[in-house]
Amino acid sequence: MEVKLASKRGFCFGVKDAIAVAENAIKQYGAGRVVALGPVIHNPQVVRELEDKGLDQSGNLEEVGNDITVLIRSHGAGPEVYDQITQQRLSLVDATCVLVKRAQSVVKQLHEEGYKVVMIGDAAHPEVKGVIGYAPDVIVVDREEDLDAALPARAKLGIVAQTTHTPEHVAKMIGAIASRPFRELKVVNTLCLEVVRRQEAAVELCEEVDVVFVLGGLHSANTRELARLCEEQGVPTYHLETWDQFQPEMIKGRRVAGITAGASTPDHIINEFVEKLEPLTPIS
Ligand code: F3S
Repeated sequence: MEVKLASKRGFCFGVKDAIAVAENAIKQYGAGRVVALGPVIHNPQVVRELEDKGLDQSGNLEEVGNDITVLIRSHGAGPEVYDQITQQRLSLVDATCVLVKRAQSVVKQLHEEGYKVVMIGDAAHPEVKGVIGYAPDVIVVDREEDLDAALPARAKLGIVAQTTHTPEHVAKMIGAIASRPFRELKVVNTLCLEVVRRQEAAVELCEEVDVVFVLGGLHSANTRELARLCEEQGVPTYHLETWDQFQPEMIKGRRVAGITAGASTPDHIINEFVEKLEPLTPIS
């Protein structure tokens, strides 16, 4: 079958850096001597590869022994985590993506400038949980229907967004916020261009294919967003982690398959998928 790849796909620089930081830490401190506070990235295959190399990713600060090095993952952490690491006199390796770091400092600055900070994002996502720690009582909203209850009237609002959100969703939310009474509105763009470029490439790909495979962790926010975008284009879309989840019915009656992948999906997973899909003849 004919297979087309999205022009932008797979690993972003933030994820590459985080993996390199984790691997260097294992080399420097030794296997079993570094603990990450949760999965370094949202890709179970990469997480397993790092564990095989000796990285523990089930870190809970209270249980970390004082001869262990703590690794902060690409999603970052709130200031209280850094404080606790200092209090426990633990050594620290920081793999927070620079764009997440920027979102953290923007939130801090908005608060210092007197804005009530509003973050458009998923309150349960680790990046959001960390970023909101940099100002008191940050309001987190992700749906228009929650705005009335969440926003104070006639306030001076400073808005940021989760780095992996789509510009369309964020624009819609900003429009909805601006349609309510406010005193002042300051918006700082904290979206990640790496993610936006993958989203644009996925939409372009959808115009040329009749089925699309979005490869990446099922819990990866940016991969899920890619899959949602592809579905929105009206192309049958499958969000899979690896080739093992592929089923021949998925390409039944299809001629051209498109492949894209989230920012935490390694090349070897994409390449294996292409190599195994190309020789197949779809059942009609
Ligand atoms: Fe950073 Fe964007 Fe990747 S925020 S971790 S470069 S998806």
